[in-house]
Amino acid sequence: MLIKTATFLVSNTDHKLCPSDGKPEFAFIGRSNVGKSSLINMITNHKKLAKTSSTPGKTQLINHFEINEKWYLVDLPGFGYAKVSKLARLKFEKFISEYLLERKTLVNTFVLLDSRLEIQKIDLEFMNWCGQHSIPFSMVFTKIDKISSTELQKNLAKYKKEMLKHWDELPPVFITSSESKFGQEKLLNYIEQLLS
Ligand code: GTP
Ligand code: MG
Repeated sequence: MLIKTATFLVSNTDHKLCPSDGKPEFAFIGRSNVGKSSLINMITNHKKLAKTSSTPGKTQLINHFEINEKWYLVDLPGFGYAKVSKLARLKFEKFISEYLLERKTLVNTFVLLDSRLEIQKIDLEFMNWCGQHSIPFSMVFTKIDKISSTELQKNLAKYKKEMLKHWDELPPVFITSSESKFGQEKLLNYIEQLLS
């Protein structure tokens, strides 16, 4: 799929104020600093569409980016960032979970996971929560440019083993690097397939 246009539309903390035109959307979620905003830029071939930072906690709102005037990519705040206050975290978690539970036009949630790390409790809990609430999701491993392919395969195998303790089958899995653009085509093809 070709990305012809990608435009920032609106930021919100309330899903009820998100665009109401019924266009389908795809959300990006995961721990702070995992690379959600970078991946949105990578997918759309933009350097600065979504704001990124090496400091965790950059994205604090639900951000809608309109693609080809037909659908949305949604950048969400990261979860599990210890340095924001407990109150701020609770507020984040509340509006993110409400968005995920209530947003009727949400087609798929991409759960981003750092390919360098073993499965993190918070990620597993989040994916299990998605399952309990029938929120469709895929797993997207990020930053593969930062590890060797041997290490990557090892980490993926561990992930698979752990996930299969909780799930009968794995959701779709994508391997990406926003640096090298690895995985761009597969992600876009998947989105295209879900849109048709
Ligand atoms: P929050 O908005 O804080 O939740 O973070 P985020 O998940 O949106 O992460 P962001 O895209 O801002 O990236 C965090 C840091 O990781 C930045 O310094 C990025 O340049 C870096 N980064 C993201 N993706 C990649 C990648 O694929 N490879 C490498 N090497 N660095 C990456
Ligand atoms: Mg971000």
